[in-house]
Amino acid sequence: MRSVQFFDTTLRDGEQSPGVNLSMEEKVAIALQLEQLGIDVIEAGFAVASQDDWKSVRQVALSVKGATVVSLARAVEKDIESAREALIGAESPGIHVFLATSPIHRTYKLKMTRDEVVERAVAAVRLAKKYFPHVEFSAEDGGRTEKDFLCQVAEKVIEAGADVINIPDTVGYLTPDEYGGIFRYLKQNVKGIEHVRLSAHCHNDLGMATANTLAAIEAGVEQVEGTINGIGERAGNVALEEVAMALVTRKSHYQVTTRIKTEEIAKTSRMVSKMTGMFVPGNKAVVGANAFAHESGIHQDGMLKHSETYEIIRPEMVGQTKSLLVMGKHSGRHAFQDKLESMGYQFSDEQLNQLFIRFKELTGRKKRIEDEDLISLVEERWGETEEVFSFDSIQLSYGSRSMASLRLKDTREDKMKEEAACGNGSVDAIFRAIDRITNEKVELEDYKIISVTQGKDALGEVYVKLRQGEHTIQGRGVSTDILEASARAYIHAVNRLLFIRKGPGQRTEMPVG
Ligand code: KIV
Ligand code: ZN
Repeated sequence: MRSVQFFDTTLRDGEQSPGVNLSMEEKVAIALQLEQLGIDVIEAGFAVASQDDWKSVRQVALSVKGATVVSLARAVEKDIESAREALIGAESPGIHVFLATSPIHRTYKLKMTRDEVVERAVAAVRLAKKYFPHVEFSAEDGGRTEKDFLCQVAEKVIEAGADVINIPDTVGYLTPDEYGGIFRYLKQNVKGIEHVRLSAHCHNDLGMATANTLAAIEAGVEQVEGTINGIGERAGNVALEEVAMALVTRKSHYQVTTRIKTEEIAKTSRMVSKMTGMFVPGNKAVVGANAFAHESGIHQDGMLKHSETYEIIRPEMVGQTKSLLVMGKHSGRHAFQDKLESMGYQFSDEQLNQLFIRFKELTGRKKRIEDEDLISLVEERWGETEEVFSFDSIQLSYGSRSMASLRLKDTREDKMKEEAACGNGSVDAIFRAIDRITNEKVELEDYKIISVTQGKDALGEVYVKLRQGEHTIQGRGVSTDILEASARAYIHAVNRLLFIRKGPGQRTEMPVG
């Protein structure tokens, strides 16, 4: 059987989703999880875009050992040099050079002729090949490019040393038939095409990204590019978990193998969703909360008689297992550590101590601790930066004008700080009180609550998005009390803001796609 490689661009195309802004720590945590998932190539970012992006690409490259790590680069020397420096020391470094080829991009965006495009692409791939063992070239908007010109570009960049040729459907315009047809055409008409890996990269503007990617596999591509949960520009990229599960579930049809460990899918999806603040809809294929839920009597009856009546994927195959954590307020640190390890988490002693404190607080409030509760506590701390302010306590009085009194610890001065504020509702009052303590002027751009488990004592998770000048920052907080979770989320975001403001470099530009 032919093998198909998975190229994940959650940290680049995915991070281009409006409002998503991952910290370096979060990117490294996601990259390590992508490695666990069995991703072959991780696009860590766009090194030249800003100093923060550069540092993230570098840190991911130095942390990941089991996958090729690439940086995106425009077909210009400056980008290629920046990627080269960021990837020095990586176990398996690579570069992803792109240049638009379609008439509309050539005429209006690049203002370049066909010959100039070919010349620029060739020069960029030649330079990239001097530094990198793995060079991918993408013909941006390849899906809307004249086929004869696409062949010309592909042939020339292969001669210049490209190892992978990617044809993106940048604007999600093509039908499966048309997209598969492009690869068949290239295979028949490009000299040297048998020496490179062909790659598919689909956007989901018409909801056809998964069908198009699968059509490309049928047409012979050996690499697929996409993101976890399908996040990305506009309507997003293809959801890699959907492609992976289609290939496994319909193996006899597609006849290909992959390195994806499907049982890591749920964990990866949850991590990306939490860190980006982009919730997965309940009915989303493979990873939605309802993907394995059966509501109607007829379906439940069928499931009891034989699960395959209504279930084509077993939840365990994607890592959706459910078990009760048989621990309560008398459980010790050791049992807690064992449980986390059995769930695939590893922590330093210091991290474990912090988590154990939060776990103990939770056992005082909630009788039944489920795996989801524990996962939420763990994930609350993922990618955490320096904690300048830490939550201590909150008091509220509710009325036509709510009032909140808050106590936070300012770790810089090792001092408790207390403030009260009135607001238009409890959440507003809490946020105003925090603003008084932190002395930061921020705007609340988004606020979301989800319940982690069911029941009156369910954990609530709150996400906030704050803006200060050019900085947009997300924060998350977890508690059985959603008002406390709101305070924690807001404080988390402020801590991240202070951390980011300390460091250099904001994003200056990002490419289409
Ligand atoms: O969609 C696209 O064309 C892209 C390129 C930058 C490869 O993401
Ligand atoms: Zn793209």
